[in-house]
Amino acid sequence: MKVLVATSKPFAKVAVDGIRKEIEAAGFELALLEKYTEKSALLDAVKDADAIIIRSDIVDAEVFDAAKQLKIVVRAGAGYDNVDLASATAHGVCVMNTPGQNANAVAELVAGLMVYAVRNFYNGTSGIELMGKKLGIHAFGNVGRNVARIAKGFGMDVYAFDAYCPKEVIEAAGVHACASVEEMYKTCQFISLHLPATDETKNSIGRNLVGLMPKGAVLVNSARKEIINEEELITLMQERDDLKFVSDIAPVAADKFQQLFADRYFATPKKMGAQTAEANINAGIAAAKQIVGFIKDGCTKFMVNK
Ligand code: 3PG
Repeated sequence: MKVLVATSKPFAKVAVDGIRKEIEAAGFELALLEKYTEKSALLDAVKDADAIIIRSDIVDAEVFDAAKQLKIVVRAGAGYDNVDLASATAHGVCVMNTPGQNANAVAELVAGLMVYAVRNFYNGTSGIELMGKKLGIHAFGNVGRNVARIAKGFGMDVYAFDAYCPKEVIEAAGVHACASVEEMYKTCQFISLHLPATDETKNSIGRNLVGLMPKGAVLVNSARKEIINEEELITLMQERDDLKFVSDIAPVAADKFQQLFADRYFATPKKMGAQTAEANINAGIAAAKQIVGFIKDGCTKFMVNK
């Protein structure tokens, strides 16, 4: 039984060692394809793989066609918009994610982005503090909940809106539950996005919402670039010189953002939220265990293409 770790953005070595231990203890073989840049390398590596562990790596119909022995793909992380689920199902392949395993890492990065933004990107000028400011968390999943916990440590006043999470769950975390998404954007100077990229959410964050934010607004995106309506955000930032945008992934129009708003915009060159040794270990080893559980016991917990 061959398990392939295919990561264009590799895990920390310590995480790969942990994955190897799990896989070999089960009597399986581990293969590594790290830092690959060409799809052809992935297509070649998957040929004899029974299972694959990936991160944001694109697994589409062509990959499933090439992977004749494939039984399971585990996305070591939360978002699985990089996997063609319909094609996986058509090929009889189980797809899982490892929810929550990298959530604290992403949440800590959000805190860092907020500080970076309000201290004017450390340019030597006076900024403002986070304490006492209102933060709205858009989608209250694993990352959103960790952001709430950390933001409370800063003394922020935390709000959340999640169309799929009961108000009681939000309130039990000591967070104000907003009755509508508009109400949250109207109330909060800071908004942190934690929506998955779906047909419903793509392009959904634009003038309609960001335009409602109060003066000195800071929009933080550690989710997916696809959820932002970039054209509308650019126009809004041109109209409002108080609006800042910080992102853990370059938007499609990164050059334009940089050129127009050099003092109010920042994006990490590579998605960095989950890039900690701890998150790599947590998500990588969870992925390995889920593969062993699936192959040996038929366990389908965390399957996302049911
Ligand atoms: C996730 O969906 O888990 C995060 O966006 C992290 O993605 P990465 O594993 O590609 O860094």
